[in-house]
Amino acid sequence: MKTKISILLLVVVAFAAYSFSFESYAHKAATGKYVGAQTCVGACHKTDGQGKQLDIWQNSKHSQAFKTLQTAEADKIAKDKGFTTPAAETPACLKCHVLGKDMDPSEFESTFSKEDGVQCETCHGAGSEYKKLSIMKDKEKAKENGLIIHDDKAAFCTGCHNSESPTFKSFNYDEMWAKIQHKKP
Ligand code: HEC
Ligand code: HEC
Ligand code: HEC
Repeated sequence: MKTKISILLLVVVAFAAYSFSFESYAHKAATGKYVGAQTCVGACHKTDGQGKQLDIWQNSKHSQAFKTLQTAEADKIAKDKGFTTPAAETPACLKCHVLGKDMDPSEFESTFSKEDGVQCETCHGAGSEYKKLSIMKDKEKAKENGLIIHDDKAAFCTGCHNSESPTFKSFNYDEMWAKIQHKKP
């Protein structure tokens, strides 16, 4: 009897964890692990020839999204919304500001840092399987290994840029994309 109850509990908990992490807009590849922005940019994505993704991202608010939650302004927003924990510890805030808040530690490599907020892999999927140059060079192969390319980019952005955000006013895709665009030249 006891074992039956604990098995049932385990299933319920596992399911809850699954649906919760699904909701946090972090894209999960079948096998890949999150390696962290520093791995992506350290390896390749920083030179002029590659399109300077590092500089663009580092100078964007996405890279600061976790640090934003550590401010007095953020704590006040959380408190006004009725949360009793600081913003940087409130799941309802971390949800859009940080990648992987509810995911199992086994999904991250040691190079990953949540301090990097909304990072490369938030939008492009867990990178451990596609980060190798030989795979990355071939877009189709990279996609098979977990790289995410969004068909409907506006819909993807509004997964976070919506009225659930306490500071949301409006979202214009073209204007907002112009601020963070980082195409390959
Ligand atoms: C995982 C959630 C998430 C997704 C997906 C996301 N963003 Fe953001 N974005 C944020 C957060 C959180 C901030 C605020 C960061 C801060 O100020 O600390 C932000 C801020 C921004 C800013 C700076 C705000 C400003 O007014 O200058 C721009 C520009 C932006 N996002 C563009 C985009 C675009 C374009 C997309 C889609 C390609 C996108 N974002 C997808 C969470 C997200
Ligand atoms: C649905 C996704 C989402 C959730 C949930 C969310 N945020 Fe944000 N947050 C954003 C986005 C996107 C931005 C960029 C500006 C905007 O559109 O609101 C942002 C910006 C901010 C900013 C910077 C505002 C500025 O003007 O620079 C603060 C502070 C902030 N959020 C605090 C919080 C706190 C505190 C919570 C939890 C109570 C929270 N956010 C929950 C998505 C979210
Ligand atoms: C907020 C989401 C978001 C973040 C964060 C982000 N990207 Fe992107 N990235 C996109 C979108 C959307 C596109 C597709 C643009 C298009 O096709 O018009 C893109 C395109 C690219 C491309 C160009 C692909 C091509 O074929 O032209 C590269 C390379 C890239 N991203 C690398 C990175 C790296 C490296 C980082 C981290 C430093 C990063 N991205 C962070 C959303 C993001």
